[in-house]
Amino acid sequence: MALSINVASLAFSLNRTFGLYEKQDRLHLLRRTFIALQLGRKLQLSKEEMENLFLYSLVDEEHLLFKDRKVMGQIFEIIFLAEKVADKLRRRKVCIFTKNKIKKYLIDEYKEMGTVCALLELMEKEAFWFNLEEEFLFLDILKLTMGWEKLNILAEEELKRVNVLIAKLIDNKDLLTRRHSQRVAKLAVKISEELKLSKEQISKIEFASILHDIGKLAIPTKILNKPGKLTEVEFLLMKSHPFYTFKLFEDIGGLEDICKWAGYHHEKLDGSGYPFKVNEKDLDLEARIIQVADITAAVMEKRSYRNPMNVAQVIEILETDVQNHKIDGDIVRITEKILKEREEIQLY
Ligand SMILES: [Fe+2]
Ligand SMILES: [Fe+2]
Repeated sequence: MALSINVASLAFSLNRTFGLYEKQDRLHLLRRTFIALQLGRKLQLSKEEMENLFLYSLVDEEHLLFKDRKVMGQIFEIIFLAEKVADKLRRRKVCIFTKNKIKKYLIDEYKEMGTVCALLELMEKEAFWFNLEEEFLFLDILKLTMGWEKLNILAEEELKRVNVLIAKLIDNKDLLTRRHSQRVAKLAVKISEELKLSKEQISKIEFASILHDIGKLAIPTKILNKPGKLTEVEFLLMKSHPFYTFKLFEDIGGLEDICKWAGYHHEKLDGSGYPFKVNEKDLDLEARIIQVADITAAVMEKRSYRNPMNVAQVIEILETDVQNHKIDGDIVRITEKILKEREEIQLY
């Protein structure tokens, strides 16, 4: 099932996500993308080629996510050169000082490449170097990609690869809850199937479930992986993770629903959750499914300060939340049925 998403904005969000994960890399990727796009424009690439150039240089370092798109050799050559230049600029604030050194390097090493001449011409303009400074980069790239709204179908295979990538990023950071997002997604999909939701709805729910804790990338690793209970201050910081999840995906055309469903996973029906304090009016069926799947998966997982709970204990927790008007009773009933039927399946 293809999902309609503005892939350009998704690419920006993934780039921001990498920024939360590894600050230095983000600037590097932005620089690489900007150089590649300038060069592509100078070489008069077609719109489709420019779009692919953008996706590959901004997010897809290993060419894994969008590998089904047709990419010609010239695009790889452009990205290769942009990468070399951006690499020479690492940890430099003022780029123009390195102009002569980089030009000499390109002539010495890569003068046989067809695109080097065009790149050297671009480098003659002072503006090329000033544009690579951090404060202008994002806006400039945004300007270059404006009007690309048509680039908005994410094929099922691409979505899967984006899912795997995101899950891996979270896993690498949050050691205590390894594979948590995948478990939540699995259970949320099961609940949705029981509810006979459409295929498209289910694939959106799955995506939102994978994303729900992505905001944890903004939380210091020390807090995420702390053995034992968090202090009050640490818990307050921890509470920002659904806020970051929301922020990361807020502006992506086509992802408005997914952003809400994922960003609201710690909200409650009675308005007592966090961080937006929305209540049942704003909690769609899909958001409620992810909430219940998240709680269920979390209590069935081991934590450093407690053992995983068994099905009877999980049901007790869910029922108490229903009585207190925190989560949806109908969805809990379905979840209990799934848990009882599959008692032998370990969620942790
Ligand atoms: Fe969470
Ligand atoms: Fe979670």
